[in-house]
Amino acid sequence: MIEAPLGDPIHHLLTPEALRHPAAAWEPFRHREGLWWSEVLDSWVATSLADCSAVLADADRFCSDWRKLGNDVPDSRLTVQILDSPEHTAVRAQLVRAFRALDWDGVRDRVAENVERRLAAVADRAAFDFMAEFAVPLALDTIVDVLGVHPPEDHRFPVVSAQIVDSMDYALRPETVGPGRAARAALAELTGQWLDGRTSGGLVGHLAAHHDSGRVTTAVLRNSLRVVLHSGYESASRLLGNALLACLDSPGSLDALSGGVDDTALQELVRYAGPVQAEARGCVADTEVNGHPVRRGQVVTVLLAAANRDDRVFDDPHSLRLDRTPNPHIGFGRGPHACLGAPLALLLTRTALGALAGLPRPLRLLDQPRFRRNATLRGLERLDLGWG
Ligand code: HEM
Repeated sequence: MIEAPLGDPIHHLLTPEALRHPAAAWEPFRHREGLWWSEVLDSWVATSLADCSAVLADADRFCSDWRKLGNDVPDSRLTVQILDSPEHTAVRAQLVRAFRALDWDGVRDRVAENVERRLAAVADRAAFDFMAEFAVPLALDTIVDVLGVHPPEDHRFPVVSAQIVDSMDYALRPETVGPGRAARAALAELTGQWLDGRTSGGLVGHLAAHHDSGRVTTAVLRNSLRVVLHSGYESASRLLGNALLACLDSPGSLDALSGGVDDTALQELVRYAGPVQAEARGCVADTEVNGHPVRRGQVVTVLLAAANRDDRVFDDPHSLRLDRTPNPHIGFGRGPHACLGAPLALLLTRTALGALAGLPRPLRLLDQPRFRRNATLRGLERLDLGWG
């Protein structure tokens, strides 16, 4: 068994330095071949792009559904994200059809209007918090628009949502498991109400009208809508904040985007600043990865963020290079569970960063950015900005 390099670097992922400077956090993983064992995670850890991609692409050997390994999974956790085929294929297909049926021109126009409105609201201010006043409300407005529903009325929604994110770090913070479970159930209750037949537009309207309950249970559909709402709110807003900070940290980057954010630049922002740092899979039968044995029942943690800094694949991986090609990053995952919301997240990032880069006065950081204490879904708590 290969021991983790320098002790168990997983311990350090929650430190403020590691959250602020992921390059330093991933340094111990560089030049590591094969999998290594983390006592903290009780799991194998894959860090190279090749190993991470191989595990994610092979759902037959590496499952998302922990019931296959004999684990209890509460009903509220049965979503598109944790099911394997054939249940996964069925629910994913219904979601894909609903996404394809969206009026994308309308979504694009409303995102652009929203961005303009939010920029106008801060234009005369000496300082503003980009997360609270821009990224988070923009992401929420957009995902409820796409879903075709009203924003959650419960003022506890941000707290509940954060409890779910915190519980993704369950191995590092076991105390988050209970609140996370309750939070998932609470949000699924909300998304279940959307399926009562009164919503006719957006993803929810499409899913309610075309729901094939013989193939996808109402509970799985409701729970999967919870994933869509939650990812659209948390992952999308965190990408916006991380991407803007990456540009502010790399002189000249925002200027380079002032003529518009092309696909190459967008993909690099996801590689460099994507919020999803890790995924986990369960090994279904004794097998090997890159010649390394993995036993049935063992967990493999896939460190997407380390893979995206793999210097065997990416030249100068810790630099933001907005013209990087090719760019085979896995910031949106890989394989059957790859992100369903990627086009929407890219649309938001393109529109918001393009508008910010095109402002007549340059943005500048007013204070140290403050990160949320989350290792799995990296994101900012506060980003205080001013002008000039
Ligand atoms: C509009 C925003 C978003 C929505 C609606 C969304 C939705 C989803 C959904 C429904 C899945 C589950 C797909 C499946 O299991 O078949 C998923 C997976 C995933 N998403 Fe997103 N997402 C969004 C934004 C993002 C962003 C910004 C990132 C990172 C840059 C991201 C990264 C991922 C990854 C890595 C997975 C794979 C999870 C796995 O392998 O288990 N998502 N997303």
